[in-house]
Amino acid sequence: MNSPLIPATPAFDATGTPYSPEYGDVYHSADSGPGQARHVFLGGNELPARWAGARVFTIVETGFGIGLNFLATWQAWRADPVRPKRLHFVSIEKHPFAREGLATLHARYSELTSLAAELQAVWPLPLPGLHRLHFEDGRVTLTLAFGDIADVLSKLRLAADAIYLDGFAPDRNSEMWTSAVMKALARLARPGTTVATYTTARAVRDALAAAGFVPELRPGFGRKRQMLAARFSPSRPPRLALPVAPQWSERRAIVIGAGLAGAAVVERLAARGWAIELIERHAGPAAEASGMPAGSFHPQVSRDDSILSRLTRAGFLYALDRWRALEAAGHRLEWQRCGVLQVAKDARDEARMAATVRALVFPAGYLDFLPRASASSRAGVEMNAGGWWFPESGWMRPAELVAAQLAAARARGAIAIRTSTTAHALAREGDLWRVLAPEGAVIASAPVVVLANSHDAARLVPLGAPLKRVRGQLTLLPAGSLPSLRTVLAGLGHLVPAGNGAAVAGATYDFEDEDTAPSEEGNAGNLARLERLLPGSAAHLDPARLTGAVGFRCVAPDRLPLIGALPDIPATRVDPRALPRLHGLYGALGYASRGLTWAMLGGELVASAVEGEPLPLEGDLADAVDPARFALRRARRGGF
Ligand SMILES: Cc1cc2nc3c(=O)[nH]c(=O)nc-3n(C[C@H](O)[C@H](O)[C@H](O)COP(=O)(O)OP(=O)(O)OC[C@H]3O[C@@H](n4cnc5c(N)ncnc54)[C@H](O)[C@@H]3O)c2cc1C
Ligand SMILES: C[S@@+](CC[C@H](N)C(=O)[O-])C[C@H]1O[C@@H](n2cnc3c(N)ncnc32)[C@H](O)[C@@H]1O
Repeated sequence: MNSPLIPATPAFDATGTPYSPEYGDVYHSADSGPGQARHVFLGGNELPARWAGARVFTIVETGFGIGLNFLATWQAWRADPVRPKRLHFVSIEKHPFAREGLATLHARYSELTSLAAELQAVWPLPLPGLHRLHFEDGRVTLTLAFGDIADVLSKLRLAADAIYLDGFAPDRNSEMWTSAVMKALARLARPGTTVATYTTARAVRDALAAAGFVPELRPGFGRKRQMLAARFSPSRPPRLALPVAPQWSERRAIVIGAGLAGAAVVERLAARGWAIELIERHAGPAAEASGMPAGSFHPQVSRDDSILSRLTRAGFLYALDRWRALEAAGHRLEWQRCGVLQVAKDARDEARMAATVRALVFPAGYLDFLPRASASSRAGVEMNAGGWWFPESGWMRPAELVAAQLAAARARGAIAIRTSTTAHALAREGDLWRVLAPEGAVIASAPVVVLANSHDAARLVPLGAPLKRVRGQLTLLPAGSLPSLRTVLAGLGHLVPAGNGAAVAGATYDFEDEDTAPSEEGNAGNLARLERLLPGSAAHLDPARLTGAVGFRCVAPDRLPLIGALPDIPATRVDPRALPRLHGLYGALGYASRGLTWAMLGGELVASAVEGEPLPLEGDLADAVDPARFALRRARRGGF
């Protein structure tokens, strides 16, 4: 488990330069922060000249600090008529400032005020992991990696074009300059990748050289006589953290399935300028699981901050940011961030939940523990127990989200939707995938196909994993049937206050049941769940008189989604170490009971993989949702 993040607080030295008492060093040259950024970090990497005309340009930084290097780089990108189409800036930080601290510090740099305000507006909570933030309609992307460089750097999956080394001075902050750090950076580099730093320390030069970089001294900034620049020139082929970016004959993709998974992929690819054909077998989008009347969203937490907890945190935070951006762009969503209260089962569970919150030391804006009395006043109803409080969580009507994402793609002129059309089979011809109708006619063809069609994906291509179909029924509770509830309640079921006093209770989890009609038995099960969440609330409700909604979840054996390039199963049998994939075929599948949490991140992960851009997840998390994981495990065990 990562150690808790300890945020930094603004402090200054005698010259008024931002200063870290913990490290005993200043955040930038006393001569000028932005000036140092331009001379040392941009200039040392020969920017903006080296990024001219690039489609994607990726910069990695060690030490985000106040973000001056990022802001100065963004400013240079804005001013450059031949700027790259997409600029990725990925920066590692162990002690992020809180938003207010950042604002105090940014106030000192008048030339960066407007960009700084944009950064502050979306600045994330100090939570471990990657935080992806988009600016300039996605053309500038900042990925903040909050954590210790020793944990985080080796987990990045990206190909860097330029590297800014900006830890505090090596004699005060040695862990930012170790040979292990330089080796890990070499895994992110390609021949020709450049490095720049203000320090000329011998140990740094030697560590860079040992990792395959050729260092060179250059004139320094301000009162510093010299600085260091370097170029990656390895003596043998490096081990790459991200495969070489795939090449496409055209930037056209087909997405199969117009639910939460497909709509998010469409929106994320459209934002990158792809033209998309969306194929849906029903007459309109969100007609299956994503047509459920309301879904709740909140991250999972665990004391050991498990893979699932980290993944749901990444999915939840990215979704919130993107949903706000959709609204800001004028697309209507039906949702409420009314908070989710995850109610303890009993006193022991309550004590465990309280201990978990104390151990994780997460900001209360993300997760808190509420004892019974505070939980009751938050929820507006008398609770039997306290539990976890997720203040930014809530509920969403999934179909509205799907519609908003498709509208956003349409606004870019990037999408053709073919409804009432079933993808019956896939065939490869030359550079293209063809999607075939039952009688063999070609419905559409493109270099990239994304399967977002839930269980039916396994019929189109072998996935190496059984995807279970798990029926779920929700029960609709008309206005007046419950005391009015102010938050979502979760636990052994969930209760969503879906507007106008009505509520949605759920959900059943039925194996091997294909009944699409709501049943009285299903309603009775949901009322029993409701009774456990909110004792005394369900006794007067008659399951025979209530209506419901039924959908089918798509669940992988480990309950995690399948997101990314699809495996080539026959080739995996021959050589699992080669991680063979079907070129141009991707999946966004198995969203189980967490479609709202997975979909946005899934869309971004697929789009990043298609474009060869930095992944929005750490490597161990990307591996945990890799659609090839089951096939690879089996092949490695000799199971094929
Ligand atoms: C009762 C219930 C309650 C739930 N509650 C929540 C909740 O509270 N919070 C939450 O986050 N999630 C919840 N979920 C889960 C969530 O609904 C799903 O994870 C999500 O909707 C899955 O989205 P999807 O796009 O993968 O699948 P779907 O919405 O099923 O979309 C797949 C689409 O692919 C189309 N398709 C399939 N095959 C083909 C083909 N061959 N050709 C063309 N089109 C095809 C289908 O018609 C469908 O429109 C719940 C699910 C259920 C059933
Ligand atoms: C010189 S400052 C960076 C200034 C920054 N680049 C800017 O433009 O404002 C160095 C940063 O490295 C961070 N840091 C120090 N040790 C670290 C570690 N082990 N892992 C990650 N970040 C670390 C510090 O918290 C500090 O913010």
